[in-house]
Amino acid sequence: MDFNNRYIPMSRRRRIYEGKAKVLYEGPEPGTLIQHFKDDATAFNAKKHQIIEGKGVLNNRISEYIFQHLNDIGVPTHFIRRLNMREQLIREVEIVPLEVVVRNVAAGSLSQRLGIEEGTQLPRSIIEFYYKNDQLNDPMVSEEHITAFGWATPQEIDDIMALAIRVNDFLSGLFLGIGIRLVDFKMECGRLFENDMMRIIVADEISPDSCRLWDIKSNEKLDKDRFRRDLGGLLEAYTEVAKRLGILIEQERPAGSGPVLVKG
Ligand code: TMP
Ligand code: ASP
Repeated sequence: MDFNNRYIPMSRRRRIYEGKAKVLYEGPEPGTLIQHFKDDATAFNAKKHQIIEGKGVLNNRISEYIFQHLNDIGVPTHFIRRLNMREQLIREVEIVPLEVVVRNVAAGSLSQRLGIEEGTQLPRSIIEFYYKNDQLNDPMVSEEHITAFGWATPQEIDDIMALAIRVNDFLSGLFLGIGIRLVDFKMECGRLFENDMMRIIVADEISPDSCRLWDIKSNEKLDKDRFRRDLGGLLEAYTEVAKRLGILIEQERPAGSGPVLVKG
């Protein structure tokens, strides 16, 4: 398929879905969508809300970087390519109504629920499932609930867990390499229908909005907890993550510039 040269003016695009931090538009080809990153930051099921100018641009770039690398190591994702500062072309999938949380270090709701001090290394990585339903506040559910209510089949749960472990291993190493501890993250999966086949792939976004990222040395939080906990400096933290990943270079020089200084 040629995804490259079909520009649809913003005004004529059909909006498919609007979430708290992103909008999905109809894509240029059947089976594709455009994922647009907004500047909205929300927490506690949108009870807390603020516009943080530039957050969407950073999340678009960081999520692009992560999904492109996952594609490159053979972890299937919905990501096709980034289109512009705020948008990426993605494959249309049927979202599995689960938030899959993988934890390496105790923090957040796990610490609260079980009384484990934040920062405690867990004996092994833990996978949790939450039912995606804002009206119910995304309640935690077990595999029993998931299969009984038909949100996913046992085989799909196995596939999702295998993907979650691969994503966790990849992200842990990626962030370790830039001095960041991956405490936990949330991912979503979708069903991709292709030539009479269905497979589970990674969807949505992976960004500092959906991960806990702590600086290895200082334990400084470089993620959305800066907003949830009123710590301030969210944009600076996300910028730091992007800089360490080496993905802010393009914005730092004018497009089509001449020779680029190679750092020696
Ligand atoms: P939690 O400790 O609040 O359960 O969050 C676990 C991880 O999931 C953390 O990295 C933040 C992420 N997360 C989301 O991406 N969306 C959500 O709605 C929630 C509650 C958590
Ligand atoms: N994204 C969720 C919300 O808006 C919660 C969170 O990330 O803390 O409400």
